[in-house]
Amino acid sequence: MANPTIIVHGGAGNWPKNKHAIGLSGVRKAATRGFQILQQGRSAIQAVEAAVIEMEDNPIFNAGKGSTLNFEGNVEADAGIMDGKTLRGAGVALLHQVKNPISLARIVMEKTDHALLAGKTVERLGEAYGLPKANLRLPERIRQWKQARRELENGSIKYFSRNLKLVHDKGRLFLGDTVGALAMDQRGNLAAADSTGGVSLKLPGRIGDSPILGAGLYADNKLGAATATGVGEIAMRLVVSKAACDEMQSLTAQRAASKTVRHVTRLAGRGLGILSLDREGRYGIAHNTLHLCWAAETKDKGLVSQMVGSR
Ligand code: GLY
Repeated sequence: MANPTIIVHGGAGNWPKNKHAIGLSGVRKAATRGFQILQQGRSAIQAVEAAVIEMEDNPIFNAGKGSTLNFEGNVEADAGIMDGKTLRGAGVALLHQVKNPISLARIVMEKTDHALLAGKTVERLGEAYGLPKANLRLPERIRQWKQARRELENGSIKYFSRNLKLVHDKGRLFLGDTVGALAMDQRGNLAAADSTGGVSLKLPGRIGDSPILGAGLYADNKLGAATATGVGEIAMRLVVSKAACDEMQSLTAQRAASKTVRHVTRLAGRGLGILSLDREGRYGIAHNTLHLCWAAETKDKGLVSQMVGSR
């Protein structure tokens, strides 16, 4: 019997100091929720879904209820899930009012022949399965969006230079504080899941890495599991989650994550974080952003958590 393990993150990026404690408390709750499920002998898929739901329901995170807003002030949430035993996986994208996008991704994975569905029609699939709807435009996010739009007009810009050119030749976009979870269950099966509102002020219709297998997440019992956070465009171009899993053929989870992030820094610059979990149940964390908020739980080490990058 394998030692059950779960590791979750609440997003890479720039975590303001006054949000460190609440972010850490959120990832600890999510890891504990997933670990309870593993301890009950249930599957890695059930554990990662439950852990991500916990974070989607917590408005501190940019996923589900806390989703950031696009350029027009609307939510377009993405999520993905993958089963390392069967290599089945699916993503959902551009969701406006599904309370838990991760559960819809699981429905697409288990009930359809597809690996990626987007928009209003996939929301109808969620309705058919009784998934709850929610208003995902929280007042706090609307306030942040208004401020970001004001800063856009002022022109203090770091990201998405071509979008910025498109949008009045100036603007400001933030990193996406995606949430993610990786688990190994008692049978040694691996799973990965992630969910996000995407990057704030993204252009309407933009889909990030989170619903894309290989980019935002990947799980293969023969390799390992990985999930990415940060600028989705980088994760997609460098297919970082599959790259980290391939590295785990010969490296531990930590070495694989660190090597993948070094590769990203060299080829694409800063803006990415990776969690990894190898076949032995060892986990790894690497990032080239300012912060990354994570928690893990195992029998040996108990519950541990960290806001990496904070002093
Ligand atoms: N990693 C989240 C996004 O770029 O959408």
